[in-house]
This record gives sequence, structure tokens and C-alpha cells, in this order.
Amino acid sequence: MSPSPQTDSTETDFFYDAYNRDDIAYGLDPSAALAAYLSQVKLPRSSKRRAIDLGAGAGRDTLALAAAGYNVESVDLSERGLTRIAERAAHRDLADHVTTRLADVRKIDFPAGAYDAVIATTVLDHIPSDDAETVWQRMCDSLSETGFLYVQVHTTEDPGSGCPPGNTSSAPVSETAGAVINYFRPNQLAAMAVAAEAKLRILRYEERLEWDYTHGPEHQHGKAVLLAVRSGYHPPWYGQPAAFPRSENAS
Ligand SMILES: C[S@@+](CC[C@H](N)C(=O)[O-])C[C@H]1O[C@@H](n2cnc3c(N)ncnc32)[C@H](O)[C@@H]1O
Repeated sequence: MSPSPQTDSTETDFFYDAYNRDDIAYGLDPSAALAAYLSQVKLPRSSKRRAIDLGAGAGRDTLALAAAGYNVESVDLSERGLTRIAERAAHRDLADHVTTRLADVRKIDFPAGAYDAVIATTVLDHIPSDDAETVWQRMCDSLSETGFLYVQVHTTEDPGSGCPPGNTSSAPVSETAGAVINYFRPNQLAAMAVAAEAKLRILRYEERLEWDYTHGPEHQHGKAVLLAVRSGYHPPWYGQPAAFPRSENAS
């Protein structure tokens, strides 16, 4: 499919170019820990589970959730990204599972207990830290009793961060680093997840460096990644990669 002609939205949509390419930014592979969770914790066929993908971009995580049977609300400020999500969902016969919403994550309602999956793959770092804390608490409160949460943020290890150690790195910086304004400190996301008011149980937490070849010239990121469930919920999770899962041949 050919890219759409540029419109006025290019002036207000920071990610317009990234999502307008044939080779759409961030690719189609979902976040790895999210994919691992979906492959292990399957929904009953009849289930009508709700998910919300905050800062959904061009929809790589939205599509994985939809394919796993969730009804997904994809929220983003990029109109072009949301158009690509709708196209991709239709192409994969998943349109009935996806609703796109052009909105600021700071201005939407988060009904309490409403979502079985809350995803925020690099959006809490795109808003000021005070707002990120408010949105984070709303996200946690909106999880159902059997809900799970996946969050990814850029950290101060990122070479685009103005703070140490990232600012001492000579690794190349992302073309879209200008959109990241709130780099998380070491352990910051972990501390938010273990705070009593979050009411979460951590399945996986990691801080890491990664090389990114999914958009623009190759570059490095510092990231923190969190996979958690509502505290008290114990789904059949065997880790990423799965360690000692039950054999497929077991009776
Ligand atoms: C780095 S991209 C990640 C996209 C997608 N989650 C992924 O991982 O492929 C960050 C996305 O967050 C969106 N975003 C930034 N601030 C936002 C806000 N306040 N409300 C909604 N979306 C926002 C951007 O438009 C962009 O699509």
C-alpha cells in the first residue's frame, strides 16, 4: 500500500512520518513479554474480555491482543497511527475486535475494574512525570480481578536521556527521542508496581539496553519492562522464556 499524502496533521502528529511509511515504525511483532503472556494464559472461547492499549501507535500490541480474543480499545494522539491500526485489523479479519480512539491518555475515563488487559508500551514516558503517576494509578484501578498489565518505559540508561548514565553513552539515539520527556530512573517502575495502592503482583520486571532496527537508523534504547497481574490472581504463567512448563504430552 502506498503512503498517504501528507496533510495538516503532519504538523500536530509527531509520529506521522513514522506511521506513514510502507515499513511502519515498530513493526508488527508484539512486545515480547505480552506475547509470552498471551501464549500461556489463554481466554475461554466464549469470553468477552476488554483490553485498552494506551499510546497504541500503529497497533502491534493491539493486534496481538485482538488475535488472542480481547476486544481492544486503541488510544493514541496519532491519527495516522490509528488509521494504520484499523487497516491492519481489517487485513487480519480482526476489525470487530478493535476500536480506535483519538485521545490523550491523560483525558480519558478509566472505569474501575473494567479492563482485563491494560497496555502502555512507551507512553508514560511521553507525558510529564506528575501526569504519568496519575495515569498509572488510573490504569491500576481499571484492572479487573483477573486482569493483567504490561508497561514499557524508556529509562535514564537511554542515550537520548539527559541524565546519567544515558548522557554519557556514545550509542546512537532514536529519531523519535524528542517525544520522550520523562525517562524513568532505575527501579522507579518497579517501585510503582510494588506500592500497596497499585494492588499488583509482578510476573516479570526487567531493566535493559536494546538495539532498535524497527524505525529510522539503528539506535539503542534503555527500557524498563513490567508484566503484572492484579494481586490475588494466579494465572498459569511459566515465565519468559517458559521454564518447566507442563509437557504437551502430559495426561
Ligand atoms: C514510541 S510510540 C509506541 C507505540 C506503540 N505502543 C508501540 O509500542 O508500537 C509512543 C506512542 O504514544 C503516543 N502518545 C504520546 N503521548 C500520548 C498521549 N498523551 N496520549 C495518547 N497517546 C500518546 C504517540 O502518538 C505514539 O504513537
